[in-house]
Amino acid sequence: MTHPVLSALGLGESESGTFLGGGEWATGDGAGTLSPTNPTTGDVLARVSATTPEQYETIVARAQEAFKVWRRTPAPRRGEAIRLCAEALRTHKDALGSLVALEMGKSKPEGDGEVQEMIDIGEFAVGLSRQLYGLTMHSERPGHRMYEQWHPLGIVGIISAFNFPVAVWAWNSFVAAVCGDISIWKPSGKTPLSAVASMRICNEALREGGFPDLFFLFNDTDNALAERMVDDRRVAMISFTGSTKVGRQVGERVARRMGRSLLELGGNNAMIVEASADLKLAIPAIVFGAVGTAGQRCTTTRRVFIHESIHDDVLEKLVSAYGQVEKKIGDPTDPANLMGPLNSADAVQAYLDAIEKAKASGGTVATGGKALTDRKGNFVLPTIITGLANDAEVVQTETFAPILYVMKYSDLNEAIAMQNDVPQGLSSSIFTTDLRSAEQFLSAWGSDCGIANVNIGTSGAEIGGAFGGEKETGGGRESGSDAWRAYMRRQTNTINYSNNLPLAQGIKFDL
Ligand code: UN1
Repeated sequence: MTHPVLSALGLGESESGTFLGGGEWATGDGAGTLSPTNPTTGDVLARVSATTPEQYETIVARAQEAFKVWRRTPAPRRGEAIRLCAEALRTHKDALGSLVALEMGKSKPEGDGEVQEMIDIGEFAVGLSRQLYGLTMHSERPGHRMYEQWHPLGIVGIISAFNFPVAVWAWNSFVAAVCGDISIWKPSGKTPLSAVASMRICNEALREGGFPDLFFLFNDTDNALAERMVDDRRVAMISFTGSTKVGRQVGERVARRMGRSLLELGGNNAMIVEASADLKLAIPAIVFGAVGTAGQRCTTTRRVFIHESIHDDVLEKLVSAYGQVEKKIGDPTDPANLMGPLNSADAVQAYLDAIEKAKASGGTVATGGKALTDRKGNFVLPTIITGLANDAEVVQTETFAPILYVMKYSDLNEAIAMQNDVPQGLSSSIFTTDLRSAEQFLSAWGSDCGIANVNIGTSGAEIGGAFGGEKETGGGRESGSDAWRAYMRRQTNTINYSNNLPLAQGIKFDL
């Protein structure tokens, strides 16, 4: 029987994972099928047919045709298309939020929050469509005018991860669309239904509004087509969200063909809790940061450095708060639950392996440390580990699970040095009421991450800022601020309206 959450969105037990444009979804399963499972029960939710190489070729050819039309469409008119998508998502927020919770395993409020991020970036993109500004420069030559303008890039390939199965696509595709680009999406094989539903909602809104196809979708059982897209010169930019390991390969392959890539890779995010911190804020921030989405956000809090004078007190409060969370672990589609399952059985194994490794390295489990074997699904206990050094291998590694390493420090310089001393550089935060500490943390000699917060946690970034990080996080920025520039090409234009041909740098070339 079809799960009611699927039926609410008009999805059945067998769906096409290929949107070919022209309102057409591919038929047949010549390339095999994906079987997304419900992480709460282990049951298969539906079958989604994968895309054949021929269908991929159709998609790219149609995207190229669509681009020819779309690049001539005025940007504010392009914004109107995205306004319709955001409106349609608003209508379907509850249903799509439930599907994200069901298929990915995050809590219902977080699933709804993810759809809200899609709506927010849609509205941001509408405003942006009138603000794709370039600069005007003063030419050094008389009677000359110099300026720059931003043109669409072409086709943008989006490869997204299971943990934000819909929002990351919207951050990329909506901004790309107002920039004049056409996007092709390869979602995670673990969450194809959320992708199919999002594509339906948005493509129907576009068709009803009389707009061309801006978004295409393909699915893959073995990454062969994703690799083909990464190597495809017709795809101007690849925006990849996922592990550092795969992201490194993507970056290298795209660079080889001199394409552009935007990489959003792993994080190993830390929080510093100073002696002056307001613990009423710090404790819930740590718990949400470490346990939210069952520790499967790239911004999840993985390390906490606590000042030695309050370390034992904060640890005790955290252990007691984790006890409260333990009572609310369960089916994520039930809004009463705070924590759902991990997305896959493999993730449970990675969680258990990391805990074993932590113990072998001298760590102590302060709370949690076990998979919940009394029920079906991929449920684990949120875990705190103490007694490890920051340079322990397991602490240096991003394990996509709710494991928090709590460490002590005595001096802020030391804490900042430890927080920076990991290969990744995504998100960071400090809890303090001391102005000097806050400013030091945000200074050029403070946090080295793409995101640095004061008195809020490491996760849950707003769409208005540029999102991304340094070092092995990949350096990409997407979502707000001027991240749109990654989706456009810059052109510098100099116009001579004089009767002479003066050369730059005063060069004389008299014939
Ligand atoms: C991710 O985990 O891939 O800041 C993105 C946050 C969310 C996005 C996370 N807005 O936690």
